[in-house]
Amino acid sequence: MSRRLQPLAAVLMLSTFSGVARADIVPPTVPPDPPKFSAQSTPNFVTVDDILTFEALPAYHEPEWLTKNFVSTGKLPPVKDRLPKEPLVYKKANMVDGIGVYGDVLRHVIGGRPEGWNYQAGQAQGWGGIDIGMFECLTRTGPLFQLKPEALEPLPNLARDWTWSEDGHRLTMRLIEGAKWSDGVPFSSDDVMFYWNDNVLDPNVTPTNGASPETFGVGTTLKAIDDNTIEWTFRDAFPKSFIYAMAYGTFCPGPAHLLKPQHPKYSKNTYDQYRNAFPPEFMNWPVMGAWVPVEYRPDDIIVLRRNPYYWKVDEAGNQLPYLDEVQYKLSTWANRDMMAAAGTGDYTNLEQPEGYVEALKRSAEPDAPARLAFGPRTIAYTLYPNLSANGWGEPDVRAQAVRELNRNIDFRKAITYVIDRKSLGESLAKGPFTAIYPGGLYKDSPYYDKASTVYYPFSPESSSALLAKLGLVDTDGDGFVNFPKETPGVGGQNLKIIITGDSQIVTDTDLMQGVIAQLQKAGIEAIPNSLQGATLTSTEQAGKFDWMLMRNVGSELLTVVQNTASLAPTGPRTSLFHRAGTDGSLDLLPYEEKMVDIVNAFILSSKDPAKRVELMKDYQKLYTENVNGVGLTEYAAALVIGKRFANVPPGTPNFMYNWGEDSVMRERLYVPKDKQKDYELHPASLPGKPGMSGGPVQ
Ligand code: GLA
Ligand code: CA
Repeated sequence: MSRRLQPLAAVLMLSTFSGVARADIVPPTVPPDPPKFSAQSTPNFVTVDDILTFEALPAYHEPEWLTKNFVSTGKLPPVKDRLPKEPLVYKKANMVDGIGVYGDVLRHVIGGRPEGWNYQAGQAQGWGGIDIGMFECLTRTGPLFQLKPEALEPLPNLARDWTWSEDGHRLTMRLIEGAKWSDGVPFSSDDVMFYWNDNVLDPNVTPTNGASPETFGVGTTLKAIDDNTIEWTFRDAFPKSFIYAMAYGTFCPGPAHLLKPQHPKYSKNTYDQYRNAFPPEFMNWPVMGAWVPVEYRPDDIIVLRRNPYYWKVDEAGNQLPYLDEVQYKLSTWANRDMMAAAGTGDYTNLEQPEGYVEALKRSAEPDAPARLAFGPRTIAYTLYPNLSANGWGEPDVRAQAVRELNRNIDFRKAITYVIDRKSLGESLAKGPFTAIYPGGLYKDSPYYDKASTVYYPFSPESSSALLAKLGLVDTDGDGFVNFPKETPGVGGQNLKIIITGDSQIVTDTDLMQGVIAQLQKAGIEAIPNSLQGATLTSTEQAGKFDWMLMRNVGSELLTVVQNTASLAPTGPRTSLFHRAGTDGSLDLLPYEEKMVDIVNAFILSSKDPAKRVELMKDYQKLYTENVNGVGLTEYAAALVIGKRFANVPPGTPNFMYNWGEDSVMRERLYVPKDKQKDYELHPASLPGKPGMSGGPVQ
């Protein structure tokens, strides 16, 4: 009798349960509006023409000590001869504090260390904006945060302008004419072609920040027309998004006159020797940027002095930069925050909300050395499911069973319903800083549309109901749901999900703890796999995770126009969390196929802004309705900079189109005379000859 009754009872229970379940699932809604707060500053929105132009001015100026010690003594040509025919001119009206004065130092602090100066062959200089200040790129994106959405386009830079052929397959770029490297050697299309042919296209070289031929489109070619003109040919018509990719960090050519003789194609060097040919001790490395490294003391400091050949000026003809020196203290990233608050450093990107309240309090004190301005909410964290079921990352039986669940919309919904985003955000920082983030495009993205955003509100009951529907119930009474009996290999065992994340950053570990506790409450056993550095990156890249909790690394969900292709699995390796399996194929879910179509259509619709807006509405709907990623929180970060600096653009985000160090336009920052400090380590000196024994010269 009992044998017959049991299954019957089970069936009865199940049907009652699913009846209840349906009634219990809270319907989705739109996400609540984010809180506003007064510490958040907003940009003065403008067009590219309001920011800069290229033109010859009647007269040019430079610091007095430079004229006196270098030009009058015949060590350097006059400033007008060091500048290009038509330098890049910053418009005064776009500079909040106007035309500046020369002098003083910007003191950065970084956690990284320089490997050497061969940026184009993959060496890092220690991050924190040091490379951004040294290497100039064809176009520029950092300052785009202040462009009117309808006027959004990359800023011209080394490429002063560009024109499309009628069919949209050819793009001709005019380079700045007559500009020179910081050692006085002319810059030309040779530098650009050496970077492209012998670094980007050479499979043995991986430039810093990973430029590859695909970054500029499959099948794309580049050639030089003359010294100052280059021509791109693209497979598709009008792929304007590649112009964004020609900015930092993927198209910043190095000095071919130093690099070429060391490249294996033109020397007996190995690729390793080429990469390492210019160690950090090599001083006065020629740059197109505003400052040149003149001193290096390991684990202590890098000092950079003004580039006497810098090719940008203000409207009054003053050669930039205004700041004569930049220092990079070699310390830790945590110290960067502390030193900026204490006034022993001048700059930080404050981005861990755990410290916001304290930092705001400090900056409100009248004697505080630094100002703190929050920008838009440009940082977001997402919990990403591994959506591959055909072998990416070689899952074992348990992991494969998790992958199958991940591919089930009810399971992804069950996960999203148990995330209490409000309390997650408040656990990082009390106050208005964080906002509920359902996933997908950020609220501060120019393409965000609230009505197209599907938000599954916090509802543990809905989650339990969905889990039960999937047969995921706690059959052994230990508080965690078990796999259904019939699941191959793991039937009846507790469902265990391993979440991979970063162990070094406090916000990442705080969110990991919070998410695991919330999943636990809903009966889902989640185990953290917290890793760091290269181990973390290689684990993620290899697909060896069930879920991963991460700060959205790229800016595609924010700016959309950058890294657009990675908004969906458009290629075998473009998505972070769904790549091709062992047979090289992508097992896309139907909604993912639709997202891929939308993203491809977006890339090719640069001539139709209205269509782009509609496409992104559809994208957002698909993303959020299908819980493509489980959004956790999105929040504002603050740019902290010494109060003595003028011309800090209002609303500068610490990350958006690029890092704050680029967006703030350091070459235009200045310190009014009465506020200038005595921080220069090499006053009245300039970079000397490039080489191992070089230093600054007076
Ligand atoms: C590091 C820092 C960021 C920013 C970048 C600039 O990644 O953590 O805040 O300064 O360098 O490249
Ligand atoms: Ca159990």
